[in-house]
Amino acid sequence: MKKLVFLLISFVALLNAQNPLLIPDTLSGSTINLALKQGTVAFYNPQVTNTYGANGNILGPTLILNKNYSVTINVNNQLPDTTTIHWHGLHVSPLNDGGPHITIPPTTTWSPSFKVKDWAATYWYHPHLHMHTNDHVQKGIAGFIIVRDSVERLINLPRTYGVDDFPLAIQTKAFDVNKQIVVLSALDTAVMINATLKPFLNAPAQVVRFRVLNGSSERAYNIGFTGNKTFFQIASDGGLLTAPLSMTRLRLLPGERAEILIDLAPYNGQSFDMISFGAELPNAIYGAAQPGMGPGQVIPSYSLNPLNGNNFTLLKLNVVSATANPVTTMPTALVAHNPWPQASAAITRTLIFMAANMGPTAIQGPFMINNQMFDMNVINYQIPFNNVEIWQLQNQTPIAHPFHIHDVHFYVLDINGNPPPLNEQGRKDVIMVPAGNSIVRFITKFETFYNDTAPYMYHCHMLTHEDEGMMGQFVVNSPIGISIKENALTNKSLVLYPNPGTDKVYVKVEKQNSTYLVADVMGKIVLSGTLNTTKNFIDIGELKNGVYFVKFDSSKTHKLIKE
Ligand code: C2O
Ligand code: CU
Ligand code: CU
Repeated sequence: MKKLVFLLISFVALLNAQNPLLIPDTLSGSTINLALKQGTVAFYNPQVTNTYGANGNILGPTLILNKNYSVTINVNNQLPDTTTIHWHGLHVSPLNDGGPHITIPPTTTWSPSFKVKDWAATYWYHPHLHMHTNDHVQKGIAGFIIVRDSVERLINLPRTYGVDDFPLAIQTKAFDVNKQIVVLSALDTAVMINATLKPFLNAPAQVVRFRVLNGSSERAYNIGFTGNKTFFQIASDGGLLTAPLSMTRLRLLPGERAEILIDLAPYNGQSFDMISFGAELPNAIYGAAQPGMGPGQVIPSYSLNPLNGNNFTLLKLNVVSATANPVTTMPTALVAHNPWPQASAAITRTLIFMAANMGPTAIQGPFMINNQMFDMNVINYQIPFNNVEIWQLQNQTPIAHPFHIHDVHFYVLDINGNPPPLNEQGRKDVIMVPAGNSIVRFITKFETFYNDTAPYMYHCHMLTHEDEGMMGQFVVNSPIGISIKENALTNKSLVLYPNPGTDKVYVKVEKQNSTYLVADVMGKIVLSGTLNTTKNFIDIGELKNGVYFVKFDSSKTHKLIKE
């Protein structure tokens, strides 16, 4: 009998066993080597799960980069699949960005090399292969990037990695009976932080910093602590906020990051939990009781997942003695922000999120942007270099989408006409666009990099939605004076753009010193001149709006519309 009780107790103890939180190793310096490989993890010992990882069985090392320093990253693909690696949130040229066009076939190495231009913040890297992002991320590839800079360094913040500064990648996964990862499933019932199930962390009794990433495919989290303890958000996706924001809940959608501080000094010797208060998530966010706006909008198996609409533990914190030189106070101010004034925007682009199937199954996707599904061969926007733009995101679907754009960070102007919450007033690269025809507007500037043929992506960061086509691409065009090569990814016959145009219309210069004539519909010549690689545009700013015809040398005539 005693034996049986003992066995029962140990069995219960085993069920509740906590695992030490995995803290990924760090890599830094001017050369970083990442090897993508297959691995195994015994999430459910003794059963073994097949995984993908970078330099290990799952996830990847945390890359510590310094602003204004150059880095070369050698990504060696030892996987059986082609993949890509995207540096989410980093402002790099499109050829270094690792989007779906920058593929790394098996056994090859891709070596992007760039100068770090970003603010100190928490970024991440993950695969981005067209239609396979979810597959490769779910199987395990993702890692943190921590950028440091001289501004952040001067603020008294916890920044000793793994001691008072902890990365927390929150993910959920679905497993089959053999404990293999199921990529497409609404039964993602296994909650893990840094690929650790039921994790605990011994954290010192002082101010500690958590760099929280929602690395999940679809699920939103509503983060807080036992007893509604107060914590402070200090950074959003792209950098520090103006000042620490006191809060008890932090909502994070897939792709989003936040850095938070919590003072653990009062809890020395105690244990408490970081929790996702899923019961408080409003409907029409993936993770709420209902994923859509109405009870009829269902996702198969969604209601069977106990995480949906319920609170659950993310991480158990055991507060232990403070370290030698602890941070004991919260900073009062962080960094200044100077968002671009709205009046400086050259254009507002409207992106409307739609469901491919209307009616009750609309919530199951696939979703589209402006009635289009992603097409690798279509460039959706040609953006003039250095353009300041407002993007207006309108969600006509019944579920919220976390919209992400590569290349830039943005400032949210408004959400349904109201200023965004304070924690969304910093630099962002992912923003939730609520359901119910909500409109989110942001402002950004397309600076530093241009390339007429290599695009950047924008997409929903719910990876299932992205893979199914809720994505588009843009190129930032060469500035004046730089030869515009034919855009191989767009219409091969593209000669003039933008067309319709308002101001300067760029010309694909076929040969040096070609002449051009612009005639109106009556045949009257209104403009003429020569083109070469340093003057490759026609200034149509003075022309009246209407239809014109452009003729180069003796080639055929092209129609041009002035708006
Ligand atoms: Cu984190 Cu285009 O993605
Ligand atoms: Cu990205
Ligand atoms: Cu979406």
